[in-house]
Amino acid sequence: MLEGLLVDLVPYGERFKKLEHRWHNGEGWFWASAGDRMILTRSMIERHQQEQAEWHERHGSHGVWFGIQTKDGTPIGDMAVNWMVPHARLAMLGAGIGEPEYWGGGYGTDALLLMIDYCFDWLDLRKLWLGTMAKNARVMRQMEKVGFTLESRVREEWYTDGEWVDGLLYGLLRTEWPGREAKVEELGLRERAANRKAGA
Ligand SMILES: CC(C)(COP(=O)(O)OP(=O)(O)OC[C@H]1O[C@@H](n2cnc3c(N)ncnc32)[C@H](O)[C@@H]1OP(=O)(O)O)[C@@H](O)C(=O)NCCC(=O)NCCS
Repeated sequence: MLEGLLVDLVPYGERFKKLEHRWHNGEGWFWASAGDRMILTRSMIERHQQEQAEWHERHGSHGVWFGIQTKDGTPIGDMAVNWMVPHARLAMLGAGIGEPEYWGGGYGTDALLLMIDYCFDWLDLRKLWLGTMAKNARVMRQMEKVGFTLESRVREEWYTDGEWVDGLLYGLLRTEWPGREAKVEELGLRERAANRKAGA
């Protein structure tokens, strides 16, 4: 378990799995999937998870999944190393807070800082990256404040709600990371923990 200020990252398990159906059919999935508004049944979600696990096995790649829970133990989403290339010490991150009332309150950033430290200090990775669509303002702001660099813009990569939207790829090198404590200090996360509430 990785302990943050607003959230903890805990092993992904049944408690989180049970909520995936609601989360996947809510607004969060639209943003996490870069514009998909599919209606997903429980069995589709289970099949997708199973296929992902098989894909990793076939390709000899690795993923690490955490659940995100608030300090009172409420599960609110997931955070993952979705795809890792050990020989290059490279990993792609993914995150989704399934409960929209927790967006914009610093919870996702608290979780991301924990994840970055984990990736660099425990998994000994040297580069992390993450992709999103160019209208996901929360992720774009989050990348900027955490210190990721916008490395590429893929023109008209996604089709969302009737319009073509660019894809953005962000990267962070180990050498650019000052460490979680320094980032917490820089962002004043403690202060926000005291002042901000979910949905504020
Ligand atoms: C992406 C996500 C994990 C970020 O977590 P979060 O807790 O919302 O992020 P934070 O509150 O720490 O940071 C978001 C920032 O965007 C800002 N923001 C929120 N809404 C915004 C908007 N409409 N326009 C511009 N900025 C906005 C917030 O104010 C905050 O910046 P600040 O700290 O300077 O005030 C979360 O929003 C989420 O799960 N969203 C849905 C799924 C998703 O998009 N997944 C990521 C796919 S790559």
